[in-house]
Amino acid sequence: MNHFEYRDGVMHVEDVALPDIAAAIGTPVYVYSTATIERHIAVLRDGLAGVESGPAGPWIAFAVKANPNRAVLATMARAGLGADVVSAGELLRALAAGVPADKIVFSGVGKTADEMALALERGVGQFNLESEQEAVTLSQVATRLAIAARVAYRINPDVDAGTHAKISTGRSDNKFGIPYDTAAAAYARLAALPGIDVQGVAVHIGSQLTDLAPLEAAFVRIGGLIADLRAAGHVIRTADLGGGLGVPYDPSKPLPPNPADYGAMVARVTRGWDVRLMFEPGRLIVGNAGILLSTVVRVKEGAAHPWVILDAAMNDLLRPSLYDAWHDIRAVRPDGARFVANVVGPVCESGDTFATGRTMDRVAEGDLVAFMTAGAYGATMASTYNSRALTPEILVTGEEWAIVRARQPIESLIAADALPPWLQEEIA
Ligand code: LLP
Repeated sequence: MNHFEYRDGVMHVEDVALPDIAAAIGTPVYVYSTATIERHIAVLRDGLAGVESGPAGPWIAFAVKANPNRAVLATMARAGLGADVVSAGELLRALAAGVPADKIVFSGVGKTADEMALALERGVGQFNLESEQEAVTLSQVATRLAIAARVAYRINPDVDAGTHAKISTGRSDNKFGIPYDTAAAAYARLAALPGIDVQGVAVHIGSQLTDLAPLEAAFVRIGGLIADLRAAGHVIRTADLGGGLGVPYDPSKPLPPNPADYGAMVARVTRGWDVRLMFEPGRLIVGNAGILLSTVVRVKEGAAHPWVILDAAMNDLLRPSLYDAWHDIRAVRPDGARFVANVVGPVCESGDTFATGRTMDRVAEGDLVAFMTAGAYGATMASTYNSRALTPEILVTGEEWAIVRARQPIESLIAADALPPWLQEEIA
């Protein structure tokens, strides 16, 4: 469920009419709903209500990469969520949004020594390590700073998540984690390193999963490993089960498993583990909480179908170009007619295509369209390709809305480049 609905034939976000935002801010613009974010958090918490996770309950760390806007992160922090970060930038953003450091887990396959030092000084709750080399570096940094690092190894369970190859992370031929088969030996070496406090195990097999079976297979392996590690004398207090639950993009496709099904599976598989469970949801919380609002620049005749040329492009929403991802595209003021069209942006690449041969609301020059389910991996993956400014972002709550990222002025984009001394005269 989300809060993007038609009222009197006009799409609203909560109590705000989208044309009002377009008139005030221009397009393209991302628009997020606080009520939808909060609802998704509540649905996930309800789904996990039956899991055994110790007195503190599950540690839910929002995957910042899905939507790092500080206002979005502050909404998560207000709801009591922690954060899953993968860079110094994400760590600082989460802290700047009020996420307590001890609710932050630092993931990522290439943490640098400087990033580790920053995270240790700020007091992050857990490092998810992805290699033995990384553990050695963290041990050195932690020893130098005299701050113990609480760590888990991310295990690569060699399970095929059955999702798009570019967002699949749990097979042995993916770069992530340490192999399941050698994990016990790796933990023995880990525990011997100075400055390291072994705390748990972690797994994340991919994103936009539409089947619980691979997740269950991975979690079963983690359960076996926890038992083996305890038998070898390790104290295992946390089990991080990652993120990855899919969201509905295409209304004509079967719904992905809901958080209640997911929670029931987790409760069944993890019963008796005697750990604090951790989760790193990203898309599940913000995917359907955001749209990208765009204007039709013109409609051009095409060989097979008309070309609907928008003012949004692949630089604003990369997912269709990068993963052939499907986003529902709706008219903000539909007139009831439908047509078949190719929907594209103005960027000079044929890959700047949002939809081909799409049956959709009929739109004409000047009309507003909304890309649905654009709250996750939308604005955060934007670039300035073709010297297009970064898209602004709006957060709505009830009938209030606020600019939470202003449109980047083109002048600032140009001013960010510096001219070397030997070219300055030429320009002056
Ligand atoms: N934890 C880790 C370690 C991750 O790598 C990810 C996502 C998550 C949690 C959150 O996964 P989620 O719950 O959002 O599925 N740009 C791609 C998705 C990349 C996901 C990367 N890792 C897309 O637009 O589909």
